Amino acid sequence: MSFRLRSAVRRAICGLFGEEAAARAAALYRRAAVAPQPEPEPLWPDSEHASPAAAFRAYVDERIDEDADSRAADEFFLTEADGSFASADGSVAWAAAAYRGAPYTGLALRAGASVSTPLLTIGNDTTLVCEIAMGAIDVALQVPGVTRDIGRVEVPSLVTVDLSALNGLTGWISMRARTDAVILKWIVARSDRVGLLHGRSNYARRLATESQFFTGVYDHEIYRSRGQSEDAAPFDAPRGGFRPDAERLPDGDAVGALPAADVRSDDNAYVYGVRLLEALVGRSEPDFASRLAALHANGPVRLLSLCSGVAGIERQIIERAGVPAEITLYDINPTLMGRAAATLSPFARVFGVIGDVNEIDPQRFDHPYDVVMCVSGLHHVVELERVLSAAADLLVPGGEFWVVGEQIGRSGNRLWPEVRDAANSAFRALPAELRRNSIDGVTDAALREMDYSSTTFEGIRSEEIEALLSRYFEPVEVYRRNCFLWRTLEPSYFANYDLNVPAHRAAIHGLVAAEYATWRTGGRPTETWAAYRARQSAR
Ligand SMILES: C[S@@+](CC[C@H](N)C(=O)[O-])C[C@H]1O[C@@H](n2cnc3c(N)ncnc32)[C@H](O)[C@@H]1O
Repeated sequence: MSFRLRSAVRRAICGLFGEEAAARAAALYRRAAVAPQPEPEPLWPDSEHASPAAAFRAYVDERIDEDADSRAADEFFLTEADGSFASADGSVAWAAAAYRGAPYTGLALRAGASVSTPLLTIGNDTTLVCEIAMGAIDVALQVPGVTRDIGRVEVPSLVTVDLSALNGLTGWISMRARTDAVILKWIVARSDRVGLLHGRSNYARRLATESQFFTGVYDHEIYRSRGQSEDAAPFDAPRGGFRPDAERLPDGDAVGALPAADVRSDDNAYVYGVRLLEALVGRSEPDFASRLAALHANGPVRLLSLCSGVAGIERQIIERAGVPAEITLYDINPTLMGRAAATLSPFARVFGVIGDVNEIDPQRFDHPYDVVMCVSGLHHVVELERVLSAAADLLVPGGEFWVVGEQIGRSGNRLWPEVRDAANSAFRALPAELRRNSIDGVTDAALREMDYSSTTFEGIRSEEIEALLSRYFEPVEVYRRNCFLWRTLEPSYFANYDLNVPAHRAAIHGLVAAEYATWRTGGRPTETWAAYRARQSAR
């Protein structure tokens, strides 16, 4: 049924049976899954639209938006609860299926039958997950006039497909059975929502099984020592509820009223924003200078700094600690190494290794270190396992590995999908002059979705850093922050800000309030400052 025909049918139902019946019919139609393929209609090229995606968007806006029920969703999961998938002719039906030794219920399709999702808009992080218990299925995105093949799923396989290449397209994702087939899992959602939606699929059946299972579980002798009764007794519902007071999160005005909001002479937009954020969070990074002083016993404390660059942070720490120190710098860039040596030499004895840290070999060092540290360098490292293992090996017993100002966000220095909306609504609230991107002078409507690792090592494995740290180290002190603030004040926007302009300060207050609210409500931080001890030292 084409969109046009569908709208006509809706209008007819509406005229004959009223709005409610029409809405019900529209909802049923949306969920009716047996091949609601739209009639092919040439959409592009035409004179008006620059791309098939733009043409399709216009098509959808024109025809679908008149019908609020039919607006595209952004996620889908297959669930028995949606009984409408079964077809009258039996070519599509829910059926019990045994798979890998366990009983399942799946959507069985006769060869040639097809089913499709409701209308979906594919986003930059949309992922398709599909598992089948039998047969082979062709998966495609159907938009009017165009079928985009996504791939084939054959038993036994659990397939995960990154749909970001279809970003912006709206259509139906269809599954067509090449042979008789049974679909167990079918999720189309933002990648971080897949686990949740998997849990929601076939929820009622899982819940019944769960309840049934646990009724008998506690009869097992392993639980006998708990002294549980096998009898049942009556119980009352709780009289009162537990309602925690809702926390009032600060807005931009409240941030501007903080004592920390007074601009200092050495502030810039980034330093100012982060200082305000710390004031709100009520915490700051570990005091590395005090930690260094505490590690000093006999002779100079020995530090090894990986990816040391100009070693400005190292200098500050050693100077503040005020203890005799020797530092070995390890960087691939001899120019930066020379500058670092000049900066550090008044405070410490300086040694240097010019080389690729990805090839570090602990055997080539003739003594261990009290501190191995890395300032904003791990997110450039490819061989994280080798480098972290070497760092652990190179520590004296009781020595510390410091991870200072490290990017631990999504690889490629991208935003985590779940904070993107919050980040963009804070960004869009900025005056246009603060959204001008110095890369090309364009005023951005949203933060750019760049993968900075596509041509460099920027954030090459940043999302793996924390998990790998825990393989080699135990945390001693960890401070994590900054879900998205840094992206709004990064070098491409930084020069737009003048802290003497009240509107610019107010804009930063608003960004900090939004960042804080995101963090308070569960947003994932992207930066860490932390001290660790090795889980096992080779020395
Ligand atoms: C983001 S900078 C951090 C520099 C310094 N720690 C700081 O905070 O200013 C990354 C540094 O890592 C160095 N680097 C990048 N890849 C490297 C590699 N494979 N081996 C050694 N050094 C590397 C660069 O030369 C640069 O100095």
